[in-house]
Amino acid sequence: MTTQNHNDQKTTRATQTPAVNSLWHSLVERKLNRRSLFKGAAVAAAAAAMPIQLRSAAAASPVATEPAKSTTTAGQPIDPDLFFTPIAPSSEDKLIVPEGFATQVVTAWGDEIADGLTIGFNHDFQAFMPIDFIEKGGDVNRNFAFWSKPDMSSIDGLLVINHEYVNPMFTTPDFDGESEKTPEQIKVEQQAVGLSIVHIQKTDDKWAIVKGDKFNRRLDALTPIVMTGPARNIDGGPNAIGTLANCSGGVTPWGTVLSCEENFQDYPVAAADGGYGWDANIYAKRHYGWVVEVDPFDPASTPRKHTAMGRFRHENVAIRVGADGAVVAYMGDDRADSCVYKFVADQKLSDDRAANLKILEKGKLYVADFSTGKWILLDYKANELLRTAVDSKKAPLFASQAGVLADTRAAGIAAKGTPVDRPEDIEVHPKTGDVYVALTNNTGHGNFHGQIVKLSEAENNPAGEEFAWEIFAVGGSQSGFSSPDNLTFDGDGNMWMVTDVSSSRVGSGIYKFMGNNGMFFFRTEGSYAGIAYQFASGPVECEMTGQCWTPDGGTLFLSVQHPGEESEAIDKLSSTWPNGDLPRPASVAISGKWSK
Ligand code: FEO
Ligand code: CA
Ligand code: CA
Ligand code: CA
Repeated sequence: MTTQNHNDQKTTRATQTPAVNSLWHSLVERKLNRRSLFKGAAVAAAAAAMPIQLRSAAAASPVATEPAKSTTTAGQPIDPDLFFTPIAPSSEDKLIVPEGFATQVVTAWGDEIADGLTIGFNHDFQAFMPIDFIEKGGDVNRNFAFWSKPDMSSIDGLLVINHEYVNPMFTTPDFDGESEKTPEQIKVEQQAVGLSIVHIQKTDDKWAIVKGDKFNRRLDALTPIVMTGPARNIDGGPNAIGTLANCSGGVTPWGTVLSCEENFQDYPVAAADGGYGWDANIYAKRHYGWVVEVDPFDPASTPRKHTAMGRFRHENVAIRVGADGAVVAYMGDDRADSCVYKFVADQKLSDDRAANLKILEKGKLYVADFSTGKWILLDYKANELLRTAVDSKKAPLFASQAGVLADTRAAGIAAKGTPVDRPEDIEVHPKTGDVYVALTNNTGHGNFHGQIVKLSEAENNPAGEEFAWEIFAVGGSQSGFSSPDNLTFDGDGNMWMVTDVSSSRVGSGIYKFMGNNGMFFFRTEGSYAGIAYQFASGPVECEMTGQCWTPDGGTLFLSVQHPGEESEAIDKLSSTWPNGDLPRPASVAISGKWSK
């Protein structure tokens, strides 16, 4: 089959609805019009004359109060206290960072980590887990970065990497694209997805793999996994075969990694139907599309898929711990016109790691209603809308909570959650507890460049049932970025965002202003909040993903995913990053002076 291009979402009937008929767009418009009133009549008048995307961008353009010495390429004022000079957009086949910063490829697709074990393809989420995480007692207080435990190692740790999907042009070059794949070809692909866990150490400013280390491990589409929670017995569970479509993820305070299964619908599907052509018989359909919890510090542990957290195209998960120890997970369904969810665990965080490992197995699942600012409980017994929901043939949609969890998108919409424009990453601000949601785009509704939304829980209680929200930043040529995807925060509460304009669109037409996909820095407070400063530009046809920090904030890890994915053929490459030959998805370490 041809390359899977994961940001090219098919326009479904639902997404062909004009923008004015999207509840989400009318909510955004109302929010931005209110903002315009406070920004002055001139902005409001200019905004009123433009179509929604431009109107949003104009209204949301931040206005700095002090005169800036210079501006970004997009014309936004540059914060004089910024510790780097923003780069200009680029179309070069290079990973470009500002002057004073250095990049190093730490581990790329195909690198051997132990005998017979190699790094998978298309790196997405990454977590740097300090090697002394457990010994130092995890991090019960953090919300959610390593900053409250700066004594944890920043030179020795486990890098946990998601591998989202394969590209047969590179992973299976002996496949002719037409006949059935051989069992050997299928196995190569099954082993190229999932996760890598690899011990890395920094010596003399260089990171290196500790080859053959006891922690080094691959989880792939064949690894035995067990399902937990109310839907664990679905389709012959609780035992599931493998994990796949591992997109973004998160880290728990008890030192495990959460890996999210996103575009599972492309997997064991016949090549003729647009899938990878794997043997569909061994994969039970509803065993994919879950959050998978992995304990990187216990190489013998069996990963678990937590059905209580719902099944949908899980892009991401971000954990926040309430003042009373309540553990809350925020999640998005990366599909056009799909919802934002949160899971509130029944069990509170404690000092007992064995007990904490059970936290995500039981709890309440909610969907966000942005029109009322309420979290709606998705509980079959308690919610009449779920008990009475029917399909187009008037047959009941659900018969139990297991059914609700197995098709959470349908449940969220039946319960009147708000369909939004493709929630990609969600991240919790380490200082304020606010939740930032990257809505990447929804071209079917004319939202070509996306927005970042900020959600604030009532009384700052993550387990509560009410929230307020506002638009934090809007993509477009005025702001210099399009299609926000993964987010992360640093210890000062600045946001680092990577973009994902699909490879078939990047650098041309309405996306030309941005060049290749990049990484952007945002202040979240002060008069420069919401302005995008470009920190990195990636190689041709890549998206960058999985940015994460060491506890001391000295190294920023970044994934480079799918460079050269639109190459015509293996001898007609559009990218040769990083080595001048086959393009290789990779984990990169960035170092430099992170403050002024
Ligand atoms: Fe795998 Fe929605 O990005
Ligand atoms: Ca993504
Ligand atoms: Ca993230
Ligand atoms: Ca994306």
